[in-house]
Amino acid sequence: MKVQKIREKYISYFEGKGHVEIPSSSLVPKNDPTTLFTGSGMQQLMPYLLGEEHKKGVRLVDSQKCFRAEDIDEVGDNRHTTFFEMLGNWSLGDYFKKDQLSWIFDFITKELGIDPSRIYVTVFLGSDQDGIDRDTESVAIWKEIYKKHDIEAKDIEIGSCENGSRFGMKNGRIFYYDASKNWWSRAGAPNNMPAGEPGGPDSEIFYEFTEIKHNKAYGEYCHPNCDCGRFMEIGNSVFMQYLKNEDGTFSDLPNQNVDFGGGLERMAAAVANDPDIFNIDIFRDIIKNIEEITGVNYSGADEKTKKAFRILCDHLRAATFILGDGVKPSNLGQGYVLRRLIRRAIRFSKLSNIFEQGICSKIAESIISDYKEHYQNLGYVRKSIISELDLEEAKFIKTLESGTKEFEKIANKKSNITAGEAFNLFATHGFPLEMTKEMAEERGLNVDEKGFKKEFQKHQKVSRSDVAEKKFKGGLADDKDPKIVQYHTLAHLLLAALREVLGDHVHQKGSNITAERVRFDFSHPEKMTDEEKQKVEAWINEKLSQNLEVFVTETDPKTAKEKGAEGEFSSKYGDKITVYTVGGELGSGQEVSAEICGGPHTKNLSEIKGKFRIKKEESSSAGVRRIKGIIE
Ligand code: ALA
Repeated sequence: MKVQKIREKYISYFEGKGHVEIPSSSLVPKNDPTTLFTGSGMQQLMPYLLGEEHKKGVRLVDSQKCFRAEDIDEVGDNRHTTFFEMLGNWSLGDYFKKDQLSWIFDFITKELGIDPSRIYVTVFLGSDQDGIDRDTESVAIWKEIYKKHDIEAKDIEIGSCENGSRFGMKNGRIFYYDASKNWWSRAGAPNNMPAGEPGGPDSEIFYEFTEIKHNKAYGEYCHPNCDCGRFMEIGNSVFMQYLKNEDGTFSDLPNQNVDFGGGLERMAAAVANDPDIFNIDIFRDIIKNIEEITGVNYSGADEKTKKAFRILCDHLRAATFILGDGVKPSNLGQGYVLRRLIRRAIRFSKLSNIFEQGICSKIAESIISDYKEHYQNLGYVRKSIISELDLEEAKFIKTLESGTKEFEKIANKKSNITAGEAFNLFATHGFPLEMTKEMAEERGLNVDEKGFKKEFQKHQKVSRSDVAEKKFKGGLADDKDPKIVQYHTLAHLLLAALREVLGDHVHQKGSNITAERVRFDFSHPEKMTDEEKQKVEAWINEKLSQNLEVFVTETDPKTAKEKGAEGEFSSKYGDKITVYTVGGELGSGQEVSAEICGGPHTKNLSEIKGKFRIKKEESSSAGVRRIKGIIE
């Protein structure tokens, strides 16, 4: 069964259960400063899991593009990838455990035709320390489900993975694990969660490759969370029902939600009963393409070459999607990860002698043609993806030779690689640290990573202040009252928050700022409700707590408008205007506010100390409301 088919079946199965399909959000998260990339379906749904109403209803289904950089070093075996699609179904305070577990089992066994006896499940053991009970409710539901299939389903307490490998599965079917395995939040286990973060117990579904015998290198006995490859997790139902409090305890969220996430590619591997994920159709297409480009046959190749094929498949698929979402290779942030993916793919293909000039963009062509039906955007930006890949490949090839020579010189000393040497390889020869580390490891050498990171930070600071100097010319003048400057920036946040909460009809109609308060007039036909006011306050306070940076871009009114800036677009500004953005540069997709403005503004929201409160909301004139707001 093709990946495309599984995706379609999943979406239509849940549509049949009253769900509405929502599109995948960008790989670059818009309002989530906790991470560089979207790594799960829940990121775009955070406000709704916290209780806000979703305009598409309480049952949603999607296939979310995900990228997890943590797994990059594991890529090359038969199952790890950095990029994957996560099938998701969501209950926002609607159905809960019983429907979720029954439906997902039904989907996997009936729609995908997976043999129920191959499926094992795990549940949350509970935590006394966090005051959260063990999930006996899910166990009872799972037992009922298995009973219908005439499968005996004993529940066994495993707890930790160490216990799992020491005691094994004891003929069980349902296994209790602790929070390290069966608790989900963006921050991981309960003790890692910051206050205000939602989370909950989860129940994972594993597929058993019965043909694979347990490998004792991974522990005495096998169990679902063992890493030997016999079991593969294909889906996870999260029961998102708790919120972490300031004092470390948990309280109930306004709603009991379900967040299911299933790895699309892994499901396809389970359907095919083939533990090599790179044998599924979309990877086969890429591999065929690499075979044509290089003349090397994948299935007949040695392990090292196979690894290079898999790295090319994974990294270039990830790079294609990341480029598709507007990131360009660079030495910072998302751009750095993208650069690392492309360069790592080239390096491994060179090591296995399968590199050909233009290989990156050729592989991307076949990826785009496979995916553009579902991810139409890839088709629209095809040209720029191709040219960016060609450019980055050429840049890297140019420096690779001199860099490798330099590396050899350093490595031949047979002593560990110093921070300065690693940084020089990075800054002069474009070697990402991780590449230097990998090459050093191949020679049994260490790299002074800590020292490198210090050098890297120094370099970041210098390049940031270079940029900031240019950007802030004429910006923040020292003779201005800092309080006034802070309220000025706050006025931008207020407009963005009002537009977010009340709608796009809101525009600024005037403002007056003193060192004590901001007075702000805006178009809106009616009195704001208490709830709307609270939402505006919460939105602003959330941004303030995130210490977002403020940027200024010089551009022309037309570009500013196209990139979504608020403000007057009449000719009174001339061709050159400045746009102030918060949270990211204009057009980066990261900005939470963008306004044409002459400044001055704070450089970072962290300069605004305290909480925002709306003191008064009243009518100003027909169709115009007035807010007085303070920081306290
Ligand atoms: N958010 C859950 C996960 O990523 C479904 O596993």
